[in-house]
Amino acid sequence: MGLYLIIMGVQGAGKGTQAAFIQKTFNIPHVSTGDLFRAMKNRQDELAQRVQNIMNAGQLVPDDVTNEVLKDRLEQPDAQQGVILDGYPRNVAQASWLKDYLAQRGEKLAAVLLLDLDPYTAFKRAFGRVKSTKTGETYNIYTNNEGLTWEFIEHPEHTYPPRLEAKLKATGEILERRRDDEAFSVVKRIDTYLAETMPLVDYFRQQDVLYSIPADQPIDVVSQAVQQVIEKVK
Ligand code: AP5
Ligand code: MG
Repeated sequence: MGLYLIIMGVQGAGKGTQAAFIQKTFNIPHVSTGDLFRAMKNRQDELAQRVQNIMNAGQLVPDDVTNEVLKDRLEQPDAQQGVILDGYPRNVAQASWLKDYLAQRGEKLAAVLLLDLDPYTAFKRAFGRVKSTKTGETYNIYTNNEGLTWEFIEHPEHTYPPRLEAKLKATGEILERRRDDEAFSVVKRIDTYLAETMPLVDYFRQQDVLYSIPADQPIDVVSQAVQQVIEKVK
């Protein structure tokens, strides 16, 4: 049996951060549907363009597209001993598709790790995150801001909230932000999470696979809690 894990939580809860730790510690690939969709960014076909527009608006990509993209990834050779799923499933229909798909392969979920974080902190983590394209280093204007300057730039027609622009003091490099980290997208993503993804908490609790971890703690403390759960279930 492979080690099939899910990490879930509101936007900015630290799913990507902890999934990278799990990949390294337990040697299973980090499969993020958000990353798979972002990788389609340079494709010109109609589907890829539609996916980018949906993401920028903070909405969910349709289930049939998402399930197909995920199935493709789970069938790659490196995913045969299990995976850590990040950002999937996001509703009960996707969870039920995954259950059937794993069952067909004689597999099942070992655990669902819920990173529990309040929406206010979550907003600041997603809205405030910035990244150097030159070094790959990540920062956050609220929590990891040494060496940064930033300002809020008004929208010319005042139709959208002000846009954040952060720079490295030392080099003047303008730091990159995810397009869906603009304020209106983050709020929409959090709303979508509360309405569509939160019902999965009860769904997985009923299946006795849910482990809730307080996520408002330093990254390494959350990682320790994550590791303990996985050691127990694997
Ligand atoms: P996706 O890419 O999955 O984004 P998300 O769910 O909105 O979550 P984030 O990546 O913003 O947050 P995270 O929890 O990974 O946090 P991170 O570790 O970066 O999805 C994007 C879009 O794709 C969706 O909106 C949708 O359109 C589409 N999509 C994806 N999957 C889909 C699906 N299954 N169905 C349909 N549509 C789908 O951390 C955030 C920040 O906080 C970082 O700066 C980090 O350094 C910091 N941080 C992390 N942990 C801590 C800590 N403990 N203390 C302090 N800071 C911390
Ligand atoms: Mg992420």
